[in-house]
Order: sequence, then structure tokens, then C-alpha cells
Amino acid sequence: MAENKQSTLNLSGINAAIIMDGNGRWAKKNALNVTSGHEKGVDVVRQIVESAAKAQIESLSLYAFSTENWSRPKKEILGIKKLIISAIDSQVPELIDQKVRLNFFGDYASFGDEVVSAIGQAESATAFEDSRLKLNIALGYGGRADIIEATKLISNDIKLEKLSAEDVSNETFFKYLKAPINELDLLIRTGGDHRISNFLLYHLAYTEIQFTNTLWPDFTEEEFVKCLEAFSNTERRFGKRTD
Ligand code: IPE
Ligand code: IPE
Ligand code: MG
Repeated sequence: MAENKQSTLNLSGINAAIIMDGNGRWAKKNALNVTSGHEKGVDVVRQIVESAAKAQIESLSLYAFSTENWSRPKKEILGIKKLIISAIDSQVPELIDQKVRLNFFGDYASFGDEVVSAIGQAESATAFEDSRLKLNIALGYGGRADIIEATKLISNDIKLEKLSAEDVSNETFFKYLKAPINELDLLIRTGGDHRISNFLLYHLAYTEIQFTNTLWPDFTEEEFVKCLEAFSNTERRFGKRTD
């Protein structure tokens, strides 16, 4: 059923993102440790990426780890680190088959050299010019840090006379941000909370935002397609009067 509905949706050019929240509560509910919750979360990522490629959206940006998540227990962070490496290992061949272009953004170097090199290899192996879907993973990402860093880079380029202050526009600003998208069209947050948690702050200006109580490990392809349908039925006015 999900497949039939998807084929009637026209979502080409759409940039979507997901705040994948609820792994910890899912683990608790199922009497498992938190790492098992994150593991189940990775399985769901696989299904949703496939669904996003079928729906022909331009890009899917997933919030995997925030700057604030560095303050989680060491054991949980180590579990996430191992999971990043094993997920890259097991999922890259499938991403290659599906022509999905993978791109990580954020300050993920603190996960260590092994993670940095696995990411570098995965990005090179999927660097399709004619990709079906751009899959962007926010890892060690914070929207505020992204804006501050972009501001510093812009100031420096003005100082070096590579850029003039008058030329700083919305388009210029997007170029200096680490997140590899411009306008964000749709944001979904699972897990029941109604907040942004420092995700793509600059990109959210006119984003359609949907919240669902479903915990990320319980999120399904069917619910994702329903979110895409609701999005495609929304009138986006961008401040204009359309009647
Ligand atoms: C989201 O799930 C994954 C990360 C932030 C790494 P959580 O681990 O935040 O799950 P809850 O919110 O505690 O249920
Ligand atoms: C948001 O979830 C970050 C990710 C999903 C990676 P959090 O669990 O970190 O957010 P808060 O703490 O509930 O705001
Ligand atoms: Mg959470």
C-alpha cells in the first residue's frame, strides 16, 4: 500500500529532514539497554532511506547526533561510535546499489580516526554525480555552531577581500554553512517532543514541521509516506496572499 501511494506523490526537488528521537525510551519500554535502541534505530534508517529514494525526494537529512549529545554517558557514546562503523560497513553496498549519495556533516572528528576514515571511504564510494537521493547525516551537529562558524568564515573572507560585505546574501550564507542543503521543505520529529533541539536553525525559516508521538524505532515506511502526503497537501504561502 505504501508503495502505491508513493508513486502518485510528486516530491522531486524536496529537501526533507528527520529528528530521529525516541531510541532511549523505546529501549526502556522493551527492557533493553540504550544501545539496543540505537541499533533498532539504524534498522529503521535503512527502511526510510529506501522509501525516500522511491518517493524521489531530492535529499533526506537525518539528525543522528547533536553537539549537546556529547554530554551523554561515555558508554552510550562508545556504543554509538561502534554502531556508526558497523552501519557504514553493512549499509554502504546497499546505498551504492540504490545510487544514494552519502554525506556526513557536523563536528564528528571527536568520534576518532576510525570513524573519520570510515566516513571518508563511504562518501567517496557513493559520490554519484547522478544520484537518486542525497542522504545527509548530521553527526556532532549543532545549528548554532554552524551559524557561528559560517559568520567567522565570512568575516575572514571579507578581511582577505575575497568577499565584500555588500555581497553577503541569503545565498552566500547558505554556501558558508556546513549543512549541505539550502531551503528545508519538510521536517519530521519523532518521539513526541515539539522542539528543534539545535538542528538546522538557519534552514528552518519556511519549513513545514510535523511532530509524531511514534518513537523512532517504531517509525514505519507507511507513517513516513503519510507525512509526505500531508506535506504535499499543504499550501505553502511564504508570506504571500494567495486567495
Ligand atoms: C535519539 O534518541 C538518538 C540520539 C539523540 C543519539 P534518544 O537516545 O534521544 O531517545 P530518547 O529521547 O532518550 O527516548
Ligand atoms: C535530538 O534528540 C537530537 C537527535 C535526534 C540526534 P535529543 O534527545 O538529543 O533532544 P532533546 O534533548 O530531547 O532536546
Ligand atoms: Mg531524545
